[in-house]
Amino acid sequence: MHESFDWDSLTFSLTPTDTMYITTTEGDEPWMPGELQPYGDIPMSPAAGVLNYGQGLFEGMKAFRTSANRIVFFRPEENARRMQRGADRLKMPPVPESIFVDAVEQVVAANQHWVPPTGKGAMYVRPLLMGSGPVLGVKPAPSYTFLIYVTPVGPYFKGGMNAIDLLISEHHHRAAPGGSGGVKAIGNYAPGMKPSKEAKELGYAEVIYLDAETHSAIEEVGAANFFCIKDKVLYTPELTGTILPGITRDSIIQLARHQGYEVVEGNVLADFAVQADEAFCCGTAAVISPIGSITHNGVKSVYGGGTPGKITTELYNLLTGIQNETEEDVFGWLHPLP
Ligand code: PLP
Ligand code: COI
Repeated sequence: MHESFDWDSLTFSLTPTDTMYITTTEGDEPWMPGELQPYGDIPMSPAAGVLNYGQGLFEGMKAFRTSANRIVFFRPEENARRMQRGADRLKMPPVPESIFVDAVEQVVAANQHWVPPTGKGAMYVRPLLMGSGPVLGVKPAPSYTFLIYVTPVGPYFKGGMNAIDLLISEHHHRAAPGGSGGVKAIGNYAPGMKPSKEAKELGYAEVIYLDAETHSAIEEVGAANFFCIKDKVLYTPELTGTILPGITRDSIIQLARHQGYEVVEGNVLADFAVQADEAFCCGTAAVISPIGSITHNGVKSVYGGGTPGKITTELYNLLTGIQNETEEDVFGWLHPLP
């Protein structure tokens, strides 16, 4: 580990590390394993498909240094599969799961001393797949780059397990039926910057998006999925194609059912959610972030006096306990660094 690095001050921001992984493919050639190289800028054609038409995807996962003193990934195969589904949607050649997982292992192994001490954060792994070859017409690029860089991170929302205040976005939507909301297309994120920044200026941590068709059902939170809990039943928006199928979301559904809770995946109306007992959002970066209040059309609804709910806390302790190896990995989610 980096002895001189201040692990206690980690936030969710970029700390450049030593090494990145890169591989490229031309036309219909199959993907070949790539190589490690020093972390740094990459040369790119001004006519690259990703720069001109947004033909690009990203992924996000974490590696943890656990209390058993080993480095583990959390369900990296799921990130590989989600990137394959995204590649299909954006007409890019999918990276085989074996190459993806091997690449993730290699780049983390090469930057091991940047994995934070147990409990102080995690190493965030950021794979990118992009149309890097030049193209002028709106069509798939002639060549592709698969790249992974890593960076140590702390909490996504200030204060970690403190409840956050969210604002329902009344004028913007994140995704529409038939669009790209169900995959991690890079182009899904820039349109959220304006609503997010405006909400932050008003003191909210993030926005919640409603569905674009009826503007009544909750879809998700900027970069995290949504859950609310009423009478000990968990509710989360179902995967209809407009929300991102979060790996944390899937894990929480399995964990909650394993704990004996009922979980309903369905249409979660905002009017219902604001009357729930507890609410939280979740994701690789967000982990489980309790929601203290939701403001909708000028009306603020507060959950449990603004403190994290009981079931939210139970699920947080379980999920982070598995990731830190202080709880049993009942579902076999951990993938140790070889
Ligand atoms: N929703 C969006 C839009 C995201 O960008 C993310 C982050 O990856 C999530 C939800 C949560 O997904 P996961 O739990 O796989 O990180
Ligand atoms: C993640 O949770 O990995 C995300 O992608 C969130 C965000 C940084 C875009």
